[in-house]
Amino acid sequence: MQDKRPEWSSHLSFIIATVGSAVGLGNIWRFPYIMGKNGGAVFLFTYLLLIAFICIIPLCCELGLGKLYKKNVINTFEIISPKYKWVGWLCIITVTLIPCFYFVVGGWILNYIWIFLTNELPVNFANYFSSFSSQIFMPCFLTILFLIMTAIFPFRGVNKGIEKANNLMMPLFALMLLILAIFALTLPGAKEGLLFMFKPDFSHFDKTMILTALGQALFTLSIGMGTILTYGSYMKENTNIVKSAYTLIICDTIIAVTAGIMIFPIVFSFGVEPSAGASLAFISMPQMFSELPFASFFGLIFFALLFFASITSGISMMETTVAAFTDKFKISRKKSTVITTAVIALISIPASLSFGVLSNFKVFDKTVFDLLDYTTSNIFLPFNTLIICLIAGWSIPYFWKKIFGESFFGVVFNILLKFIVPIILIFVLVTGI
Ligand code: PHE
Repeated sequence: MQDKRPEWSSHLSFIIATVGSAVGLGNIWRFPYIMGKNGGAVFLFTYLLLIAFICIIPLCCELGLGKLYKKNVINTFEIISPKYKWVGWLCIITVTLIPCFYFVVGGWILNYIWIFLTNELPVNFANYFSSFSSQIFMPCFLTILFLIMTAIFPFRGVNKGIEKANNLMMPLFALMLLILAIFALTLPGAKEGLLFMFKPDFSHFDKTMILTALGQALFTLSIGMGTILTYGSYMKENTNIVKSAYTLIICDTIIAVTAGIMIFPIVFSFGVEPSAGASLAFISMPQMFSELPFASFFGLIFFALLFFASITSGISMMETTVAAFTDKFKISRKKSTVITTAVIALISIPASLSFGVLSNFKVFDKTVFDLLDYTTSNIFLPFNTLIICLIAGWSIPYFWKKIFGESFFGVVFNILLKFIVPIILIFVLVTGI
């Protein structure tokens, strides 16, 4: 039996849920290390410009499509024209593949929460991480555990599950981030860390840096796979799209910058390279926490923070697929959640094993984990975003008027949507591939 189409119970819940989707590992884990690798402040300013003037367009576009059609991502494109049915499916493939590697990281987070909770800390985190992630059973088990913990919320529905989870977890997340950022600012490396973040070094300003900033912006705003469209389809009739989009962008950016303010003072206090990369969160940060007084307290807060950020994003990924399968195959939300969970479980196991027994199994010279990460972030996201902008701009008559009325913003939006943003995205795709 099919369930009735849900609606957020308030505007605030809608904003918290979209912020919950946007704020994830992309902000706390990826943003600081990408900024570290790309020269700190120059990257930050480029990223801010791109997000405020370019990424706002596909974001408004997805919210607008959600508000206009009030359907899941597959049906939305099918209604626009049956010839665009594949676009909805492409979004579903993308948003089902992302959790297959994202939840592996979720499993690692659960493991680190456990070791900080029980205070059984290894002496050397670099050795610990490589020996733990290369095991067969434990990482797979924790990935599936993280998946099931996430699936509970779409299973329970939009109001009783997703809304409640976000309303509880996001304030806790913000509080923990604030505690850690304030603590980091009391460390001796605070000044150096802040200078690194806010004093631009223009020698890093080049094409690759701009492209990286754009890729990061799309990923962190959850654009290009119908997630924002799906959350937007539950919004109330009188919701203002531009205001909601800017609120989302501002919250997401404040959180990413606060994550930097939390990480760089610690990094500089301990003399770690700010460009240490992906290992920053699972090797350098826990190593540093373990050498501080109250190690288990700060370590636990850090990994709980990562947990809340990743689970609220995970919920939004799963909801996009669950909503689509529920409407498309006319099955209940519960059945649809079980099917989605099974598919993700199946693909995430080889992704988890990529760090151990399958580390030599490579497709296009990449392990399953890296292949999933690379193709979804660097190919599918910009490509899907491009197609969504082109369809909204060129195939829906007066899309901008339907969303913004006759306002000045509508006219500017229309030009950016039809010409400027697609050209930039084509450029990103061509150089990216
Ligand atoms: N925006 C999330 C992050 O920054 C990732 C995400 C991707 C969320 C796709 C939903 C859908 O981590």
